[in-house]
Amino acid sequence: MAQFNIGPGLKNAIETYQLPENLMGFGNTMAPVMATCTYENGKWGEVTYLPYGPITMYPTAKVLHYAQEIFEGMKAYRVNGMGPYIFRPEENFLRFNRSAERMAMPHVPQDIFMQSVFDIVAYSANFVPRRSGESLYLRPFMYAAEESLGIKPAEKFVFMVIASPSASYFSGGSGLSVYIERENARAFPGGTGYAKAGGNYAAGLAAAIKTKQMGFVQTLWLDAIHKKYIEEMSGMNVFVVVNNELLTSKTGDTILDGITRKSIITLARDLGYTVHERNIDIDELLVDIKAGKCTEAFACGTAAIITPINYFGDISGDRFPLHYPDGKISTELREKLLAIQEGRAPDKYKWITPVEPKSV
Ligand SMILES: Cc1ncc(COP(=O)(O)O)c(C=O)c1O
Repeated sequence: MAQFNIGPGLKNAIETYQLPENLMGFGNTMAPVMATCTYENGKWGEVTYLPYGPITMYPTAKVLHYAQEIFEGMKAYRVNGMGPYIFRPEENFLRFNRSAERMAMPHVPQDIFMQSVFDIVAYSANFVPRRSGESLYLRPFMYAAEESLGIKPAEKFVFMVIASPSASYFSGGSGLSVYIERENARAFPGGTGYAKAGGNYAAGLAAAIKTKQMGFVQTLWLDAIHKKYIEEMSGMNVFVVVNNELLTSKTGDTILDGITRKSIITLARDLGYTVHERNIDIDELLVDIKAGKCTEAFACGTAAIITPINYFGDISGDRFPLHYPDGKISTELREKLLAIQEGRAPDKYKWITPVEPKSV
């Protein structure tokens, strides 16, 4: 069993921390505690909880050169004085180690991953925002810390967990405008698209700049081979509603197996909707939008929860507005999902786990 220690200064850091009245959007405010654990000589060491602050590494740390890095994103909720609750953490744990395998990194043992995450929430219990839609966003991550410029898998790694009291990911309440990226690709068969590896996100940033320049908010990726089938967005999966049925792309090695996506499929089927997981041809979809067959579309993910799409567009300048830009089905699904996440509705799927607050 791993050892868990309290580092110097943590008590003071937690006791003097003040949660800002108005959170600065998503991921900008940090909780005062972080967990760190080093892997060396083939084994994991002790987990130490420290005040949130800078980390040191040598300029030769392999992560800085070869991007051997993975992460997860999960949330704790504390609305109406209930909770904190963490949503489906075992799914994040399993996906973290799938990402680790793909990136030639060691598995993080379940007790280290889970207890670090739960303890960060327990110590930050007073800093979990209380309004519906707000949460404590949790970011477990691991990087290659070995000091050497040789291109080979590292043998020293650091696992950390940090947390951010966060407002909603998208502000303003209006639907997303989505740019169909027809040139660059995010992922390709045999590649790393299904892993939550930092490099995948760096590869999407040039398109994010183009998307913004074209006046859109999000980039929609197509498959790398045919440039035809919808894959996902840079941090979210996508659903569309055609003839009142839900469609979402089948996951594989190019698409992240989203936990929100998976949960929506379960919820929607239980609500009586038909859900298909299959290839979605972007040009057929645009025809269906114009013909009024595709009435709504939405993005989903831990950060975004469920966010309706207002319109699609591409380099041609054409715009394809959805009939229900505020999302009829997506609003229903969002409310159902969020009510479970926040502990406001019965949790028949056993998706949430309560966390007992702790002081140092
Ligand atoms: C590329 C990508 N797709 C989809 C998702 C949605 O996954 P989840 O619902 O597990 O957050 C994320 C975010 O984690 C992501 O980074």
